[in-house]
Amino acid sequence: MSNESLLNSITSQSRDEPDSGIVKAAMYGFSKPGIIPLWSGEGNLPTPQEFCQAATDSLAKGETFYTWQRGIPELRDALARYHTRHFGREFSPENFFVTGGGMQAIQTAIQMIAGENDEVIIPSPAWPNYAGPLRLQGSRPVEVPMDFKDGKWCLDFDRLFDAITPHTKALCLNSPSNPLGWTATLEDLIAIRDECRKRGIWIFGDEVYSRFYYGAKGETRAPSFLDVCDVEERLLLANTFSKNWAMTGWRVGWLQAPRELGPAIERIIQYNTSGTATFLQRGCVAALDRGEGFVAAQLAKARANRDLAVAVLRELPQVRFETPTGAFYMFFKIDGMKDSTTTTLRIIDEANVGFAPGATFGPGGEGHLRMCYLRDTSKLEEAMNRFGDWLKNHHPD
Ligand SMILES: Cc1ncc(COP(=O)(O)O)c(C=O)c1O
Repeated sequence: MSNESLLNSITSQSRDEPDSGIVKAAMYGFSKPGIIPLWSGEGNLPTPQEFCQAATDSLAKGETFYTWQRGIPELRDALARYHTRHFGREFSPENFFVTGGGMQAIQTAIQMIAGENDEVIIPSPAWPNYAGPLRLQGSRPVEVPMDFKDGKWCLDFDRLFDAITPHTKALCLNSPSNPLGWTATLEDLIAIRDECRKRGIWIFGDEVYSRFYYGAKGETRAPSFLDVCDVEERLLLANTFSKNWAMTGWRVGWLQAPRELGPAIERIIQYNTSGTATFLQRGCVAALDRGEGFVAAQLAKARANRDLAVAVLRELPQVRFETPTGAFYMFFKIDGMKDSTTTTLRIIDEANVGFAPGATFGPGGEGHLRMCYLRDTSKLEEAMNRFGDWLKNHHPD
């Protein structure tokens, strides 16, 4: 059978969905000798031994059977304790559902709230992994561009709320934002909450970077929908172990949702993954209960590296950006760059540094590049110098 007829016999959504530009850059540069990869969103440290030990102890004990669809009770209890510590009020394990990474929390949320031709509003530039899965299931991402004005990213609430139609099921907000490093204020979150309540649509929050927040001294997390909403209202929050505790390869996350949705969420999990491995969840309990020192060290490193990257980029006259207030990315505009994908591949070839192309983050993203700075500091410094030298001697496409 020809390749063409094979491809013509799968759904148009799965055939025609564009590849993520982040994956494209990584595949292109992955095996280049000496490359400094800053394309994906992860640090350079492996998971702390203590968390790994809890997982290997579980395996050694024979915890190798089918497990709870919504996560083991011990992990859901630990999630409730963690939230109680960070939000200063009581949380119930009944609102937490363990998923295969933050990505499956997102997938579960959108499978539950958006059907064919339903719309979900997403401020853009945004991480491509909301729009992609929505399109794959026949729903419609409605990307509303933010403005980059006077060196700052601004969310225009009139424009955002004007995008709500009778087909809209949810408004998706990622704060702190990948790729922008922009963080919503409490007032922003209240405005979104009030409009979503008024229009009867879901708030779908992605707060996976909430601990990577460069606010005032003493603040240990970004403003959250949990500060302004009731957990039993139309609120779904995606989160993950990947970022705070250096566990990207574990693929464990969680969805926080009204308890009434429990059976619906369990069904979606049953028909997708049938649950997350128990031994992995044991490692996650250790991370929640004993991982604060590690999170604090990661945050200190991210802040120092952000300052380093900002200092170097500020010296490059063609480069514009807003200093990030959260997450661990620089998203910078290069004057005159029209094709971020070609430029990204050229920088891999000519400077041996790996960025992600801004175009992959949707409307408003072209003309920019994204880099992850939660890396080894000396490698980051080397990457910034290589890029600076490249930009002095080359024209971007
Ligand atoms: C904004 C955002 N949400 C969710 C995720 C998903 O994380 P995970 O690796 O746990 O699937 C990522 C990962 O990069 C992300 O950047």
